[in-house]
Amino acid sequence: MSTENGSANTNGNGEASAIKTYPVAPRLAEGAQPTPHVGPDLDSYKAAHAKSVGEGSDEWWAEQARKTLAWSTPFTTVRSGDFSTGNIAWFPDGALNVAYNCVDRHAFANPDAPALIYEADEPGSGRTISYGELLSEVCGLANVLKGLGVRKGDTVSIYLPMTWHAAAALLACARIGAIHSVVFAGFSAEALRDRVNDCECRVVITSDEGKRGGKSIATKAIVDQAVKECPKVEKVVVLKRTGGKVNWVEGRDVWWDEEIAKVPRFCPCEPMGSEDPLFILYTSGSTGKPKGVVHTTGGYLLCAALTVKYVFDVHPGDRFGCMADVGWITGHTYIVYGPLANGVATVIFESTPVYPTPARYWETVARHKITQFYSAPTAVRLLRRLGSHHVSGHDLSSLRVLGSVGEPINPEAWEWYNENVGRGQCAVVDTFWQTETGSIVVTPFPGAVPTKPGSATVPFFGHTPVILDAMSGKASALTFLLAVYLTSPQILEGNNVEGVLALATPWPSIARTIWQDHARYLDTYMKPYPGLFYTGDGAARDADGYIWIRGRVDDVINVSGHRLSTAEIESALIMHKGVAETAVIGASDELTGQAVYAFVTLKPEFSYDPNDEGALTKELVLQVRKVIGPFAAPKKIYIVPDLPKTRSGKIMRRIMRKIVAGEGDQLGDLSTVADPSIVDVIKRRVAGTL
Ligand code: WTA
Repeated sequence: MSTENGSANTNGNGEASAIKTYPVAPRLAEGAQPTPHVGPDLDSYKAAHAKSVGEGSDEWWAEQARKTLAWSTPFTTVRSGDFSTGNIAWFPDGALNVAYNCVDRHAFANPDAPALIYEADEPGSGRTISYGELLSEVCGLANVLKGLGVRKGDTVSIYLPMTWHAAAALLACARIGAIHSVVFAGFSAEALRDRVNDCECRVVITSDEGKRGGKSIATKAIVDQAVKECPKVEKVVVLKRTGGKVNWVEGRDVWWDEEIAKVPRFCPCEPMGSEDPLFILYTSGSTGKPKGVVHTTGGYLLCAALTVKYVFDVHPGDRFGCMADVGWITGHTYIVYGPLANGVATVIFESTPVYPTPARYWETVARHKITQFYSAPTAVRLLRRLGSHHVSGHDLSSLRVLGSVGEPINPEAWEWYNENVGRGQCAVVDTFWQTETGSIVVTPFPGAVPTKPGSATVPFFGHTPVILDAMSGKASALTFLLAVYLTSPQILEGNNVEGVLALATPWPSIARTIWQDHARYLDTYMKPYPGLFYTGDGAARDADGYIWIRGRVDDVINVSGHRLSTAEIESALIMHKGVAETAVIGASDELTGQAVYAFVTLKPEFSYDPNDEGALTKELVLQVRKVIGPFAAPKKIYIVPDLPKTRSGKIMRRIMRKIVAGEGDQLGDLSTVADPSIVDVIKRRVAGTL
């Protein structure tokens, strides 16, 4: 198949396909104003990338760190440690403060410049907060926290809706050296409770209510319920978001606005060691217990700042619009720390893409003249389905870069985004990264890298992705006897290869540990392929050396860009009194990328009305909503007499995955299934014939 630029092309499978290559977008092409940071072609990217890896790269990183950040104590060592010991450190003898870098230095230079553009749930009801105002709020809240006894190294949990105060809360913690743990406000009281207890914080910051899509959310009531079982929590700071009625626990609860009125609006910045923790963020892994991923100060902030600068080609005066929630890593890095470290304005979007109409994003872009727009494939697919007429007619001429993150973007969605939102003028950057990587890992560079819809293209500075033969070398319980492979994961060299994605060189924003569980950190990321960082994703490298991310190869699933663990959903279901066993799988879904399917067997003594199975499955869905949150609710639950298992009793999720995917006639060798008749039952249940 010939392509726009005339060369043969592949989709990463090594097969010729209809995938086109798009040259550098007109708004970033040679001669464009502002001049792109990296350009004008692939060679300029390659030359820049070469400096950031391998020999001599320490000097490159040192220069970037000095140019990009303000250090209170300059570093003399650039890095130390490696993957085999998991003791990675960057700029370890330097000191700096993240709030100083994100707020003070810009407030001193230009106090009236916009820092936060708060697009509240009701269109037109938000406001813009200048760097000067942000500094005042951050200092005030920092003093409030200090007054409540929070000190450097203490943890603070934050459970807030998407108001601009959320950014101030993160920065107030950073200012005084407290480690924040933001919990996405869609999590249930039980999930919040577990996360608060795991990091043993004494203070929780929340709001009376939240507002989203015209609906009120009883945020404080959820915190009240969670905190009942959090013995360490002494104080709850409550932001007045709606003024709605709340229950009040005297002595424990304090109002944000009342407390802040009592304290001075300046608070000195705590000098932090580059390797001091900045935050904990819980994410799902392949076991039931969420992992408290820990990011540190200097390296994290540097990569947050550099990726915003280079991946989104940010220039002074830009207005950066990341539509994520601050409760996830994308919100941390690309709503708060990255844009603010660059001194540009960042949008805090409280609403949904469809409230009050599916034109909401585009009205927002036009209203604030947003220059970079960063969203997820699930939103793009939804808006595409709802129709291009919602996009046309809005002035989107301010946009230069459109980003995508969270899951693979299908070429159709990419094309729609490019044509209807970008109008063929903008760079589309499909950015691959993870909570653990802290910042973008594989991505196009807007002024330099031609793009292919569906490919995240090339590594960011400092990264050396490698593709491993999926069948070799993984040090798991199953393969440990094959000791010969343990030290030699098979790296697939060259192009046209497919396998498991690992990262070969440590980068500054890599997570340093899992909170209070360094062994799990080593086991999860460092041990599977010794000497490399294991991503858990499958990937291919095509004939041009471009990377295509295929999705998770472990038990993590991705629903609307939300990362969920099948084991976590299984543990939620098993807590129901009637459930004996359960298997949760992810199946592809046109809109949400993947959807959760659950197979459940019941305890023999549990009785229910088989004619009203719907009542029971509803109860089970509620169970998941209660233990994790609404976003983890299974799309479909099947009650079955048994699950397909091996003779040793291991549940064969592969079989259920294939059946749900409509590949029930390609199950392959079933000789290891203990009771093959159950496979037929499951097929019929899924087909609706039983
Ligand atoms: C997936 C979100 C394909 C991937 C920043 C990864 C992607 C997981 C992409 C991390 C992309 C993220 N293309 N897949 N551009 N970006 N993923 O920790 O499976 O919430 O491992 O971080 O999302 O999800 P997390």
